[in-house]
Amino acid sequence: MSEIRVGLLGLGTIGTGVARILLEQQELMTRRLGKTIRLVAAADKDTGRDRGLDFSNVRISDDAADVVNAADVDLVVELIGGYEPARTFVATALTHGKHVVTANKALIAKHGEELFVLAAEKGVSIGFEAAVGGGIPCLKALREGLAANAIESVHGILNGTCNFILTKMENEGADYADVLKEAQALGYAEADPTFDVEGVDTAHKLAILAAMAFGSKIRFDQVFTEGINRISAADIEAAAELGYRIKLLGIAKPHGKHGIVEQVEMRVHPTLVPLDAQIAQVSDSYNAVQISGDFVEHTMYFGRGAGERPTASAVVADIMDIARVCSGDGPDAVDKLAPPMGFVAGERKELETLPIADVACEYYLRLMVKDQPGVIASVTSILADHRISLEAVMQKERNSDQAVPVIMLTHETSEGNLQAAISRITALPSVEEEVLILRKETFGA
Ligand code: HSE
Repeated sequence: MSEIRVGLLGLGTIGTGVARILLEQQELMTRRLGKTIRLVAAADKDTGRDRGLDFSNVRISDDAADVVNAADVDLVVELIGGYEPARTFVATALTHGKHVVTANKALIAKHGEELFVLAAEKGVSIGFEAAVGGGIPCLKALREGLAANAIESVHGILNGTCNFILTKMENEGADYADVLKEAQALGYAEADPTFDVEGVDTAHKLAILAAMAFGSKIRFDQVFTEGINRISAADIEAAAELGYRIKLLGIAKPHGKHGIVEQVEMRVHPTLVPLDAQIAQVSDSYNAVQISGDFVEHTMYFGRGAGERPTASAVVADIMDIARVCSGDGPDAVDKLAPPMGFVAGERKELETLPIADVACEYYLRLMVKDQPGVIASVTSILADHRISLEAVMQKERNSDQAVPVIMLTHETSEGNLQAAISRITALPSVEEEVLILRKETFGA
């Protein structure tokens, strides 16, 4: 095949970026590929908007069916986002024997397994590099570049919106709601920004990374997920005084014996990271994924995790990979591509998720307490009952009429043990509000 014909679903932020590359970067791509990629059709509900592109050789429709059923489309790019109708459109395209490339992490995290089966049955491929880390080719690095390694850990800043918000809150003391609006205007945020700030978007991405890292099935429903909505400027300041920065991290680690992975730990939450850790330097809307392997040791992938041009860059790289194995005169040689999840069919297992109660962490606790004698003593006595040792205690401003924040850093304990202690602490009459619990993570590099 001298050319591969592409149909686009969605001409929003990312779709426009993909169309821009396909229409404006063709010469460079053909030189790299030895084939031409041609945008032949696109569908979007809003067909009238001027996107600043010359679509004169592209059929534009307001009906996705015109793309997924088109006889002259070899590969469908799904950039609608969300679970439905994206899932139906992708399944239809695969059923018609069309390759699919998507940036849709929600779709892959929730329905990826069934779509991989369907794609394999039809002898076509699914590319989803843009679903994790936007423009950063971190999935390709994990799937191919690190293929010789047993993966020991994955830590990621995987949501540009949250990283942008936390950075601005730290640097400018900016208000959470204003910064969120700014992130939305810049095209970083999801259509529903609660997916960003409540950690769901990060959990989608972590579930994909973990399955690819440890050879398990994608289990998005098993990811322990907390967002950034309870973090205050005062927490960011207190963490800094203690030598830490707060980042929303996705964390995945394998657990097992004799090098065999039996359980997978997956969690997403605001995390205290040491100020001098590499991942702590990742600011604004940038993303980073730190992956450690038994031979390679620590590696880190950094770049733009959201936005039109970076995300489109990853989408088009997937299109180019698939184009390389398109024959044009018979079945496409998709078996020449690395398996989408990095393991050959049947080699990814249904692994258990480590229960969150068994995860061991060091903790940052923020209690709002009455400023009275004996309050700290009663709290520390409960912690002592649970054998939770303290690394630091800090009391902020005193104003006797109001509750005052007391910050504690603990040594390592299990989440189950900590939660049992926190239930008792919350029941103390001198403790007001729900205790804010943040987890701390240290790095080998
Ligand atoms: N809403 C996502 C983010 C976009 O803020 O990172 C990329 O998945």
